[in-house]
Amino acid sequence: MIDKINALREEIAALTAADAAEVEALRIKYLSKKGAVSALMNDFRNVPAEQKREIGQAINELKNFATDTINSLRESAGSGAAAAGALDLTRTAAPVRLGTRHPLSLVREEIIAIFRRLGFTIAEGPEVEDDWHVFESLNFAADHPARDMQDTFFIGRNPDVLLRTHTSSVQTRVMTTQKPPIRIICPGRVYRNEAISARAHCFFHQVEALYVDRNVTFADLRQTLLYFAREMFGPDTQIRLRPSYFPFTEPSAEMDISCNLCGGKGCSFCKHTGWVEILGCGMVDPNVLEACGIDSKEYSGFALGMGIERITNLKYQVKDLRMFSENDVRFLEEFASAR
Ligand code: DAH
Repeated sequence: MIDKINALREEIAALTAADAAEVEALRIKYLSKKGAVSALMNDFRNVPAEQKREIGQAINELKNFATDTINSLRESAGSGAAAAGALDLTRTAAPVRLGTRHPLSLVREEIIAIFRRLGFTIAEGPEVEDDWHVFESLNFAADHPARDMQDTFFIGRNPDVLLRTHTSSVQTRVMTTQKPPIRIICPGRVYRNEAISARAHCFFHQVEALYVDRNVTFADLRQTLLYFAREMFGPDTQIRLRPSYFPFTEPSAEMDISCNLCGGKGCSFCKHTGWVEILGCGMVDPNVLEACGIDSKEYSGFALGMGIERITNLKYQVKDLRMFSENDVRFLEEFASAR
């Protein structure tokens, strides 16, 4: 009897089933009323009384073993059937939608990379500033129109706390805390109290560059500008410097580049002049150096500042400034390949 039980146990341990129907057939074969395990129960009646205890236990164990085995066969046959039928494992996975980088970020990173190759490092300053860093230290006369309520956002009633109107404030933050040589670029957001239109916004982005050392000349400035323009807009780009005025530089200039759309021949984009303006620059005014505690007899420097939106418009012909802050994914996705 014991041999019979052991043989049946081995048989059950080796069972396999490909699908639910085969599992059911096995259940009937071993566990139904007329199945092999039940048949042992019938034989049990003839077992001598002194063996009943041992054999009864063995039959019970076999029954539990058969039930567990068939249950686990049913589970694996079930998932096998699902894999074979309901799931198509050859199907490609659902695409993951990747975001795109904002065009202003792309251009900012490109500007930074160009200046980094010239040895400039990044400096940052606060967007909420004081009058001294934004105006006073930069040689703005007390009645300069840029201080007017029209242009500047003030925080609360205190006229000394304001949103910076340009990143030039970072120049004086750095010059008052570091000693020359100073070679920095300062990317950041700036604010002006302007009516929002296709051509103006109440906030935009600038990158400022500042180089202060012994013997820095206008020629250094010009060469830096030429390098920047050609790296940014292509090796055939020409530059032109026009005399201009900024309180914090003397002499001051505005830089034009040959129109990158028509190559300088003249088109509606450059208003048929062949040139487009891209930034302001100049030699740091000695008054600014002195205000920051730098000896203007020993040191000189150049500075330049440009709008990131302006550079982006030139590179990608974005017609309306408002598109930069509307978060329209159709617009943002146009820059996917530039990522
Ligand atoms: N801060 C000026 C502006 O917001 C831009 C500028 C012009 C920055 C000349 C400079 C500079 O550093 O030298 O319009």
